[in-house]
Amino acid sequence: MGTKSFIFGTAVSDYNFIGREKETRRLIANFNGGINTILISPRRIGKTSLVKHAIKQIEGQEDLIVVYLDMFACKTEYEFYNALSAAVLKQTASRAEMWMEYAREFITRLTPKIAFSPEANSEFSLSLGISPKTHTPEEVLSLAENIAAKRNKRIVICIDEFQQIGELPDSITVQKRLRSVWQHQQLTSYCLFGSKKHMMTNIFQRRNMPFYQFGDMIYLGKIDAGQWVKYITSHFTDGKRHISPELAGKLCDTVDNYSSYVQQLAWLLFSSLNEGESANETQLDRATEDLLDTNEALFMQQIEPLTSYQLNFLRAIADGHHSGLGEADIREEYALGSPSNITRLKAALVGKDLIEMRDRGAIHITDPVFRLWLQRRL
Ligand SMILES: Nc1ncnc2c1ncn2[C@@H]1O[C@H](COP(=O)(O)OP(=O)(O)O)[C@@H](O)[C@H]1O
Ligand SMILES: [Mg+2]
Repeated sequence: MGTKSFIFGTAVSDYNFIGREKETRRLIANFNGGINTILISPRRIGKTSLVKHAIKQIEGQEDLIVVYLDMFACKTEYEFYNALSAAVLKQTASRAEMWMEYAREFITRLTPKIAFSPEANSEFSLSLGISPKTHTPEEVLSLAENIAAKRNKRIVICIDEFQQIGELPDSITVQKRLRSVWQHQQLTSYCLFGSKKHMMTNIFQRRNMPFYQFGDMIYLGKIDAGQWVKYITSHFTDGKRHISPELAGKLCDTVDNYSSYVQQLAWLLFSSLNEGESANETQLDRATEDLLDTNEALFMQQIEPLTSYQLNFLRAIADGHHSGLGEADIREEYALGSPSNITRLKAALVGKDLIEMRDRGAIHITDPVFRLWLQRRL
């Protein structure tokens, strides 16, 4: 078959991609309408997969060019400008050989300093040598708009792991620069997405922050169980194993429909079966323990820097206390300290993205498998 039954940990497409019809339509409408988009969710829910899926749907469209880049490795303002310019040059050139011309036309005009890697083929790396000495931020940030005008097209720039902007030195100044140039562009729009919900909402939802009300804000939710069950049962069948819809539903419940974990747990169960075999509950339980095992090192690392108060607070939530944590009996049972301590604990753990507020202020542990691990193994 050549395809993998289940994939987790990297963006998925085609056979391994399910659902997201509504979100895909909304993204494409924004791309076509020149509307900026901000997409936020915890990690591994499916942002990258969704954006790449949407991009794929409009690939053939003549009037629109979509540029994708990942900001994760950018540690300074000018590293970001280099990455951005390289992505824009590479991905707006209509043929592989044209990017060189583009670079000359749009970059050399600004500076003589360009260094290309020798193996300049389709997967080339481009080092533009853009620095504060050669370019102002405004020049670099206008590159896409200039290319769009010249080619008589519109451009959408999708920036993954955008929360990284908050980690740059002098971050607010950088954000102001970006916003002030980007908001005046007529032909270029942006899709900015990232995890670290806390950081992302700080950047986009605070009145005094440069990116306040920059665009259409989407909180990416979970894929619902109905869709997952279809996905799991059909992929088991394709791989000559079987699972009942009921057991597949139980699998989804175990990981609270959290995208990467659904696929990971389904894989652990699938791969424990022989050809022709049907999964049973005992095997699902075993696969769930395997899931905890494989993630244990990561969870240990997550709790390592926590204070004992913070850890106790997590325990209380994992035990099912989603509200009323400030009440005397709960504070006593879990050794949480004074009522004012509760406020501090909450803020600290939200800041680390370990917990989040859901409907009507109920506190939940963000990662359902981390919650399970806290319940069972701590
Ligand atoms: N639409 C989807 N269909 C099936 N699986 C998905 C989907 N979106 C995400 N996943 C699962 O979640 C994992 C992480 O997806 P990814 O797009 O990298 O998330 P994010 O960018 O939010 O961190 C994927 O490897 C896959 O297992
Ligand atoms: Mg991603």
